[in-house]
Amino acid sequence: MLRSEIIKRLYKDYTKKFLNKIIISVLFSLLVAISTSAIAWLLDPAIKKLFIEKDKTLIFIIPLLIIIAFTTKGFSLYLAKSTMISVGEEIKKKLQINMVKSLIKTDTQIIDKKHSGKFISNLTYDVNQITSLLSNAILTLFKDTLTLLGLLGVMFVQNWKLALASIIMIPLAGISSKILGKRVRKVTTEAQERSGYLTTYLVELFKNHKLIKIFQKENYENERAEYHLNELKNKNKKIAIVFVRMSPVMETLTGVMIAILIFYSAVLMSKNELDINNFFSFLAAMMLAYQPVRALSTLNMVYNQGLSAASRILPIIDQKNTIQDLSTSKPLKISKGEIKFEKLNFSYDVNEGKTLKSINLDFLGGKMTSLVGHSGSGKSTILNLIPRFYDAQSGNIIIDDQSIYETNLSSLRENISLVTQETTLFDDTIMNNIKYAKDNASDEEVYEAAKLSHCEEFINKLPNKYQTLIGENGVRLSGGEKQRISIARAMMKKSPIVLLDEATSSLDSETEFKIQNALKILTKNKTTIVIAHRLSTILNSNNIYVIDNGEVVDSGKHDLLLLKSDLYKNFYEKQIQK
Ligand SMILES: Nc1ncnc2c1ncn2[C@@H]1O[C@H](COP(=O)(O)OP(=O)(O)O)[C@@H](O)[C@H]1O
Ligand SMILES: [Mg+2]
Repeated sequence: MLRSEIIKRLYKDYTKKFLNKIIISVLFSLLVAISTSAIAWLLDPAIKKLFIEKDKTLIFIIPLLIIIAFTTKGFSLYLAKSTMISVGEEIKKKLQINMVKSLIKTDTQIIDKKHSGKFISNLTYDVNQITSLLSNAILTLFKDTLTLLGLLGVMFVQNWKLALASIIMIPLAGISSKILGKRVRKVTTEAQERSGYLTTYLVELFKNHKLIKIFQKENYENERAEYHLNELKNKNKKIAIVFVRMSPVMETLTGVMIAILIFYSAVLMSKNELDINNFFSFLAAMMLAYQPVRALSTLNMVYNQGLSAASRILPIIDQKNTIQDLSTSKPLKISKGEIKFEKLNFSYDVNEGKTLKSINLDFLGGKMTSLVGHSGSGKSTILNLIPRFYDAQSGNIIIDDQSIYETNLSSLRENISLVTQETTLFDDTIMNNIKYAKDNASDEEVYEAAKLSHCEEFINKLPNKYQTLIGENGVRLSGGEKQRISIARAMMKKSPIVLLDEATSSLDSETEFKIQNALKILTKNKTTIVIAHRLSTILNSNNIYVIDNGEVVDSGKHDLLLLKSDLYKNFYEKQIQK
């Protein structure tokens, strides 16, 4: 993305809406500028009228004016800043919500390739940099430019020759900040990358903590943690140091300016071109100008940091999905529920070999079909293609004479239940986990589903029954218990197509036997595709497909396959649990 494009986008999508507030903030900034300049200017009458002319009438008025000037400065500074802080937080939330929304609808394929840690780092680290650009930097730009202009005004009023002399030095500060700004952009990108690596590492540390213990990799992990934190420290240190590198430059410049000023003032005073009251007012203005000049000179760096962060964030927000409705997509109408794969080719990565090779499959409506085959042969892939988690490169999947690629996604997915081997539960109550399948489900429906899937027996033993929290912050359930909850969840959906991907693999044979009934109810008269590893399931199937290396090598019923397929026979003897 070009810098100009980034700026245009940031303005149009994130800043424009807050123009009112920004204008309010600018108005208060103007007050800051006026009151700051007034403070410097007031020293002139104070010295002249009170100290030199010893005027009694102004002895209360001038100190009072000074109090008013400071108070005005304080309050308007507060209001200008707090307005921009709220703008900043709004912008931050908007960026984050857009990122999360984009994540929620992103193609599975893209999410597969992305690490959660990296995303988290983008969402926090980068977004902060952009917010800082859009709120702090805008505030600095207005407040400090206006203040600087006001103070320069005072300086010119007091003595134009002195003012001209000090103005010449301002561009010097500008040049050094431009050079440092480029460096900041580079280091910030590096630091962001490191912060991404660190979050990625931390996420894995949590996930793999048992693995670390059993392989006794504590020392190794300590070293890796040390490495990641050290790298991040180095980059952050670099950034901070580039920022403070401005300090010596600025202090030296200020020193030089004041020295020249005093020298030149002395010359002007000896020629009677400058009075002491003008000198002090001028000096005050110049000292007060130090802060805005300094802020403005680091602006370039904040700008660079913000832009480099935006160049990483905006592509995430703009992520185009390939799997989405076409304008011609129609709602899927299920009659029999027959699913056909026609000459379907699929690979997860077009540069690599095909995962499914021109396969033809026919799943009869309302019947159960089994897929068997070695692990890695492509069975789960077949199931993943039906709800369009991935799209095939060629060929077609047809449900009741409608291509799924021409039906709209929500109507397709609405009709499919999926229970997988990796059970996924949310960090929420059991009740809400089951209800996830159906928003308006009554508690009774949940109890019913839980009972059928034999969840009730363990749920009733939990401290808060259905209101028990499970997952990350709650009770840990066993693999089999989790699997039963996901079966209950699938039962709630009552969809005409049911996909079971080794859905009972975590259950012991006794529990499995118990929930066979539940599965029978779940799959009754539904088009069911089951990746099976038990004889009982296979015997219940209307048809069995033997998948090997992405191809359909045989099909038929159990007895027939035992006779004609060596692969199946072999598989049956070694793998299928009776
Ligand atoms: N998300 C993915 N990205 C890339 N390759 C994948 C992905 N999922 C599975 N594969 C690969 O596709 C092949 C088939 O996998 P899969 O359908 O899961 O097999 P099965 O379910 O029969 O064990 C395997 O070689 C596997 O490594
Ligand atoms: Mg699988």
